[in-house]
Amino acid sequence: MSDSSRTKFASVRGLEMGYIDVGSGAVVLLLHGFPFDKSMWSEQIEVLATGGFRAVVPDLRGLGETRAAGEISTMGDMARDAAALLDELKIEGATVVGLSMGGYVAFEFAYLFPSRVRGLILAGTRAPADNDQEKAGREQQVLTMLRAGMVPISIATLPKLLAERTRAEKPDMVKRVRTLITRSDPKGAAAAQRGMAARRDYTDDLSNINAPTLIIVGREDPIRPISDAEFMHERIADSRLEIIEDAAHMTNMEQADIFNRLLVGFAQLIH
Ligand code: MLT
Repeated sequence: MSDSSRTKFASVRGLEMGYIDVGSGAVVLLLHGFPFDKSMWSEQIEVLATGGFRAVVPDLRGLGETRAAGEISTMGDMARDAAALLDELKIEGATVVGLSMGGYVAFEFAYLFPSRVRGLILAGTRAPADNDQEKAGREQQVLTMLRAGMVPISIATLPKLLAERTRAEKPDMVKRVRTLITRSDPKGAAAAQRGMAARRDYTDDLSNINAPTLIIVGREDPIRPISDAEFMHERIADSRLEIIEDAAHMTNMEQADIFNRLLVGFAQLIH
């Protein structure tokens, strides 16, 4: 079934939030990256739903089918939205999975609602905040998005999101990632980009994370390289690090079988 045909909506915190809720069993909450939406998790949703888990997959505010509420969508807003969605669905705890921006949201979720986190998967993300140059780069991108839409962003970021081999051998995936980016609402993406620029440094949170944690990184990720993953692994006590070969930033799409094996194996251990 296509993702849009099974999208449900819930009123949470003043938003009409689009989400997918499929399968039954222990809950896995999937938090997408930027500037994507819940359908970047299609392969994971299928595997979880058929593997005895319940996948809850929101469109984070401003992206996918959830409209932006203002000019900035903070990572804390997004984490509270996700928690409010779980409340709405009468779900107490979940394994929380975040890729890249979704990882920042997962950090906030773990900080705000530690008792709700059964396990944590942090993929292609990092704990430190942006430096001034990175913040300025994000604001530059915001101006481009608001002026010219998402196409320039897709051209600039695609080579970093997908490994060279993926780009050479999987044209359908390149197309899919490009479509995911270009169909995003520029205003919503701009608000999320501003939210990422404003995010705090999560380094001090890492030693307080008590949930079992799996850290995943693509061997060829230029955006969030292996050193960022090692940094988290060194500071989160109960953590394991997995490096996925022949993948850059979008590990869950580029090497879906490997990612899914790790995801399901981890969720089975926890629940
Ligand atoms: C993402 O994939 O979510 C973004 O690359 C995260 C970021 O820009 O820091």
